[in-house]
Amino acid sequence: MSHHVQREIRYNFEFDHRIRACFIGAGGHAYRNVYPALRYAPVELSGICDLDIGRAEKFAKLFGAGKAYTDHREMLEQEKPELVFLVTAYHPDGRVQATDLALDALASGAHVWMEKPTAASLEDIERLQAASAAAGRMVMTGLKKTFFPTIEKLRDLIGSPGFGRLTSINVRYPQSLPGQEDRADLVKMQSFLDHIYHPGAILHFLGGEIERAGYEWEALTGATITSLRFHSGAIGTLHLAAGQSGSSIFERVEIIGEGANAIVENGSRLTYFRKADLPSYGRAASFIQPDENAALFYEPEHSLGQLYNNNLFYLGYVPEILHLTDAILSGTPISRGTLEIAREIMKLFEFYRRTDAGVTTNL
Ligand SMILES: NC(=O)c1ccc[n+]([C@@H]2O[C@H](COP(=O)([O-])OP(=O)(O)OC[C@H]3O[C@@H](n4cnc5c(N)ncnc54)[C@H](O)[C@@H]3O)[C@@H](O)[C@H]2O)c1
Repeated sequence: MSHHVQREIRYNFEFDHRIRACFIGAGGHAYRNVYPALRYAPVELSGICDLDIGRAEKFAKLFGAGKAYTDHREMLEQEKPELVFLVTAYHPDGRVQATDLALDALASGAHVWMEKPTAASLEDIERLQAASAAAGRMVMTGLKKTFFPTIEKLRDLIGSPGFGRLTSINVRYPQSLPGQEDRADLVKMQSFLDHIYHPGAILHFLGGEIERAGYEWEALTGATITSLRFHSGAIGTLHLAAGQSGSSIFERVEIIGEGANAIVENGSRLTYFRKADLPSYGRAASFIQPDENAALFYEPEHSLGQLYNNNLFYLGYVPEILHLTDAILSGTPISRGTLEIAREIMKLFEFYRRTDAGVTTNL
């Protein structure tokens, strides 16, 4: 199965059938990246809810929703949506607002598309799994990194004849882990919870389930380096590079196969070093390889007003919504951003919360 989907995008108004949807949350991220993505999805927004009615009304006008609400229960009852989008934030105690909202949306009979984090604990994920199964409705977490065209391409390389199996992987992402004494406190762990979903999603998408892990922690910045072993037998490192410059490219992913490797830098630049022999040691006068062994390099052009060079696409925001709307319309299950995958990421979160540095633990 190819994970990299080369599809023709349709504009919202071109779809014959659009899914009746409501949206909870009229915040900053939703404004920048989620409402605008609906321009390319088969979605008809009937209602928008925010605790701040002024924002809900302005968003409704701007993004073409029929009505604005402050009470999501009233909206669900009045609008009876088939799909609910949740882009909210955190309760004062650090729990995730969207977890409870998802339970309410499921109870009303709707499918749910939610931003990460799905929840702040394994128990909460399990509650969502039970509610989703009972309602017969899907809950998808928008794990956007798994929809980057570059990361999808890495996934497709794994297992391909030229690349072979995944043997090792490393992911670098800037994030600080608080000291041991603060890790029981969800408020102090909020930033870590908010971000672990991103590298966690990449590791799961490319490597599968993690079997065991151990990490080292640096006290000045909270940086960590974690060594991982996957159930598949592959090994990896997760380098949470707190302390890097704010002007730096954010992240880097490298996968190594059987005589080949590939690197994604800055989300949108991919280099695939295809299988090649080392030129004869001590004798070769040129590093140029035959064309069929040469590296392949992908990067979007930034000249044309295309979709693929717009962050709504290369950061996965439109594709992560289409993954769920496709599934709803075709009556098939989602395979990405599932609650099972969110549960695997949650296990990684709990590992950092509960394990001392230097100790290898089964997840
Ligand atoms: N994937 C990404 O690239 C990415 C980037 C940024 C943020 N996010 C995620 O998006 C979410 C929102 O982040 P943000 O920075 O926009 O937050 P925000 O605080 O700006 O927005 C949250 C909004 O939700 C509303 N809200 C909360 N509870 C509500 C309720 N019960 N009913 C109605 N409205 C309610 C708030 O009033 C607020 O307007 C977070 O989960 C964050 O992790 C994801």
